[in-house]
Amino acid sequence: ASPLRQLAEAQGRYFGTAVTQNMLSNSTVTNLAGAQFDMVTPGNEMKWDTTEPGNGSYNYGPGDQIVSFAQSHSMRVRGHNLVWHSQLPSWVSSLPTNQVQAAMEAHITNEVTHYKGKVYSWDVVNEPFDDSGNLRTDVFYQAMGTGYIADALRTARAADPNAKLYLNDYNIEGSGAKANAMYNLVSSLKSQGVPLDGVGFESHFIVGQVPSTMQANLQRFAALGLDVAVTELDDRMPTPASQANLNQQATDYGNVVKWCLAISRCVGVSQWAVGDPDSWIPSAFPGYGAATMYDSNYQPKTAYNSVVTAL
Ligand code: XIL
Repeated sequence: ASPLRQLAEAQGRYFGTAVTQNMLSNSTVTNLAGAQFDMVTPGNEMKWDTTEPGNGSYNYGPGDQIVSFAQSHSMRVRGHNLVWHSQLPSWVSSLPTNQVQAAMEAHITNEVTHYKGKVYSWDVVNEPFDDSGNLRTDVFYQAMGTGYIADALRTARAADPNAKLYLNDYNIEGSGAKANAMYNLVSSLKSQGVPLDGVGFESHFIVGQVPSTMQANLQRFAALGLDVAVTELDDRMPTPASQANLNQQATDYGNVVKWCLAISRCVGVSQWAVGDPDSWIPSAFPGYGAATMYDSNYQPKTAYNSVVTAL
């Protein structure tokens, strides 16, 4: 079969993957990533704890390595991410409240300027909502209230007017309170003229539990004049994997790709790893794994074939 990237490109979409610095020294991984995928999200290397570990001291070495890997394989880059409650260095959360806005704006301006012209999009604010659909009361919210999101988006736009600006979250893929909260937020931002180009749906799924309302839910966001993207797709199961679960995983992956293709403003799908060996799932969800399209030897699983068919 043709590579995923070629099949996606034939439909004006991309097929992406997440890459971390340690993966760059494994040629099995880099060859496979470069052959199959045309978009790279750095797994950790553009997060605040890496890029600004001390106030005003910036470190772009790891992120630059991911960008140059991407460029050498004609892959684009999703910048991930600028503002997030997690992987946030403690100096930020310990700032006096009246210094948080300036620190946030300086961080965004510096990082977006560094990568200007090199990233396709930025996840400007990552995971703003808690599981009930309330904005998290993190350091940014405490300092600025809801307005921190508009301020972050405006600051990013000023630094790189050509990068697509996203909000990205999980458990907003299907209908529900959290999806509604995101919908209401982005509707309000759009109606106020705040610069926002897209919404990222992480899509960390459990086998057999992909929400059947996903296509309709993404479609209503697209109808607001936004791009939508599946940004961190994986589909976990208890390990060792059973054949029944691997078959269900193929159905799940195929459905997600089909639903994206059915929405003209769904710009692409990114998997959150290249293969099972580099997936975050076994460490984040003990007892689970086998969440990607490539097995422990980087051989394509039935989910891969299902995606090829869907594309
Ligand atoms: C994960 C990385 O894959 C891990 O290596 C890290 O330890 C924690 O973060 N949502 C996101 C991603 O937006 O940044 C997270 O990535 C997975 C959940």
